[in-house]
Amino acid sequence: MKKIAVFTSGGDAPGMNACVRAVVRSAIFHKLEIMGIVRGYEGMIDGDFIPLDARSVSNIIHLGGTILKSARSDRFRTEAGRVQAFEHLKKHKIDGVIAIGGDGTFKGASIFSKEHAIPFIGIPGTIDNDMYGTDFTIGYDTALNTAIDAIDKIRDTASAHDRLFFVEVMGRDAGFLALMSGIASGAEGILVPEFETNLQGLVKDLELGNSEGKSSSIVVVAEGDDEGGAFEIAKKVKGHLSDKFEIKVTILGHIQRGGRPTCMDRVLASRLGVAAVQALMDGKSNMMVGQINGDIVETQFSKAVKYNHMLDENIVKMVRMLAFCE
Ligand code: F6P
Repeated sequence: MKKIAVFTSGGDAPGMNACVRAVVRSAIFHKLEIMGIVRGYEGMIDGDFIPLDARSVSNIIHLGGTILKSARSDRFRTEAGRVQAFEHLKKHKIDGVIAIGGDGTFKGASIFSKEHAIPFIGIPGTIDNDMYGTDFTIGYDTALNTAIDAIDKIRDTASAHDRLFFVEVMGRDAGFLALMSGIASGAEGILVPEFETNLQGLVKDLELGNSEGKSSSIVVVAEGDDEGGAFEIAKKVKGHLSDKFEIKVTILGHIQRGGRPTCMDRVLASRLGVAAVQALMDGKSNMMVGQINGDIVETQFSKAVKYNHMLDENIVKMVRMLAFCE
């Protein structure tokens, strides 16, 4: 292995820069040449490759976003797109590739690895924390802290005006952000895509809370909840609750994707970056590096994309206990 490439792909996540830095610096430590691919698979198909050295990644460890830019690529889903990407990797004499991204990124890498003989190692980077094979994905901790900072502020104004707020956090298919930010901000209700939402039960809970002296409440909604986003849910329950609370909706949106990565995300990104380069040097391919119980572990892409990282049902059960002693 003489020359490797790194790219970021899918939804960006705070800590991706710290990870790119770790990959570049550890590659140089091991005397490897390293190139960056700009805009993920899109850049691989277009031949958008840039040489990287130790100074290219100076002063980025604390920055959100990604200096390599990111994209979602429909063209990489086609065989023709993947052939074009392979031609560019060959042209640049790339012996191994490190992909920082989520589920979609690794699905693409897995298909590519079956068609073309270039080893790929994945690093989980997504605010959703929905990857099997790691306790935490890069960016999740930062997004959580951004969300609870916002929800704490909403609680101040909700309490001042005796209002019920529906706060929507990201998570099209996964409820980690909603569940953990809801627990950490003392939410009265948390709605996630993984469990069927019972709106009647939610209305009952909020009425119960109100009858027991709660003059304001917060319900955290994952954007992909089966009953809809926060606006839709607020509309559905409005008729039942508007005599008790004035209802407001806040969508946190893409502020959850940006910002300075937390210490946890920077350290995780650094460890996984170093581990990914080591895995390539050890001749490994088609797998993701992750961290479980503090240890670095490797998981085949086929498993990482097939199995779900499940929400802990015991934590879901805590919500009503802590909000209503029920
Ligand atoms: O995959 C991360 C994520 O932030 C999801 O939670 C969200 O549904 C999606 O990306 C939004 O993607 P985009 O920025 O492309 O709209």
